[in-house]
Amino acid sequence: MRALTWHGKHDVRMETVDDPEIVNPRDCVIKVTSTAICGSDLHLYDHYIPTMQAGDILGHEFMGEVVEVGPKSTLKKGQRVVVPFTISCGSCYHCSKTQYSACPNGLPADNQDLGRQGYGHEMAGLFGYSHLTGGYAGGQAEYVRVPFSDVGPIVIPDGVADDKVLFLSDILPTGWMAADNAGIEPGDTVAVWGCGPVGLFAVQSAFLMGAERVIAIDHFPKRLELAKKFGAETINFEETATYDALMEMTGGIGPDACIDCVGLEAHGAFFDNIVDQIKASTFLGTDRIHAIRQAIIACRKGGRVSMPAVYGGFVDKFPLGALMEKGLTLKTGQTHVQHYMPALLNAIMEGKIDTEFMISHRMDLEHAPAGYKAFHDKQNEYTKIVLKPGSGLPA
Ligand SMILES: NC(=O)c1ccc[n+]([C@@H]2O[C@H](COP(=O)([O-])OP(=O)(O)OC[C@H]3O[C@@H](n4cnc5c(N)ncnc54)[C@H](O)[C@@H]3O)[C@@H](O)[C@H]2O)c1
Ligand SMILES: [Zn+2]
Ligand SMILES: [Zn+2]
Repeated sequence: MRALTWHGKHDVRMETVDDPEIVNPRDCVIKVTSTAICGSDLHLYDHYIPTMQAGDILGHEFMGEVVEVGPKSTLKKGQRVVVPFTISCGSCYHCSKTQYSACPNGLPADNQDLGRQGYGHEMAGLFGYSHLTGGYAGGQAEYVRVPFSDVGPIVIPDGVADDKVLFLSDILPTGWMAADNAGIEPGDTVAVWGCGPVGLFAVQSAFLMGAERVIAIDHFPKRLELAKKFGAETINFEETATYDALMEMTGGIGPDACIDCVGLEAHGAFFDNIVDQIKASTFLGTDRIHAIRQAIIACRKGGRVSMPAVYGGFVDKFPLGALMEKGLTLKTGQTHVQHYMPALLNAIMEGKIDTEFMISHRMDLEHAPAGYKAFHDKQNEYTKIVLKPGSGLPA
């Protein structure tokens, strides 16, 4: 089959590789009909995430048709499914608490040590996201093997277009959990750093949860425009100082909840960001944490900070004092996708959530390397790319 493979920093290629097969009784194999490139994939593309190996197949946002089932899969050939990016068993201690992204059973034993050494516990298995998370082949491919297919994939009713439901695989539940973790109460003012796909879904979710005002922060005009479409007020951090603007807009109190949808590759010529960048490029540090620093500093006393954004390493100048002295709550984590999928599918079907507005480009899977480059270099124009295997769509 054809698949997008990783070979190093800014080097991804379409290659012909072996077709996936059923390995365990609960597996299924799906023929991918749509798969998206995620902001998280850029962290791999920029080689910020360790334990990648040349030839790894990327992609964790995908859906398709079931073409093979193991004897213990509950799916049937021909069904259309969206697959969560987290590989969870459904019955362990963590899964029973619906904390699916904490499930250890998706991770092969020989991949567990790194997580234990770095984080105190092994990571969950994820599709197409390094050997730290299991080294699973991802879904930017014609076919993909899906473990625990009796637990993860959600069946899509006939007649519902791929583009409407594809983002159930990751960014919609992620934006929703980000707002959920922000403990939004009716009347709240919520600030969202980053208007990428995750930030845009966090904006929409915050309003649906009763926020009175949402203030969206980015520097790409087209992304800020999309946030405005949902009623957000906006701050372009290249034109206005974010902290000052937030204080001005909230009468000096600060937002009730702050959501970081930026992550370890923060942009901007800020002093702390430049220092982080130098440290990362000289292997003295890992993450550029400007956005979460600013979210903690701007949040009102007694407020809530939610961090769906991905960070990987050990960080410097983290405002621990402000977090404590202001009595803030901080919640974060890889998304418990399986927990949120059913209700969000209903919300899409009932027309409560708009999912297609952010798709800026659709192209054939064969053009994925060009897609990665464009999504990386031209974030203003390329909000979200959906790859369609076999469609013949141009780059
Ligand atoms: N927790 C999870 O399970 C999960 C799932 C999906 C994505 N993520 C993470 O969420 C984050 C966002 O994902 P995405 O797909 O929207 O990524 P993206 O790269 O498309 O968007 C990030 C946005 O942040 C903006 N930004 C950069 N620096 C900023 C700053 N200083 N202030 C304000 N905005 C700034 C960028 O301009 C960009 O628009 C990433 O870190 C991604 O890895 C987490
Ligand atoms: Zn993703
Ligand atoms: Zn489990």
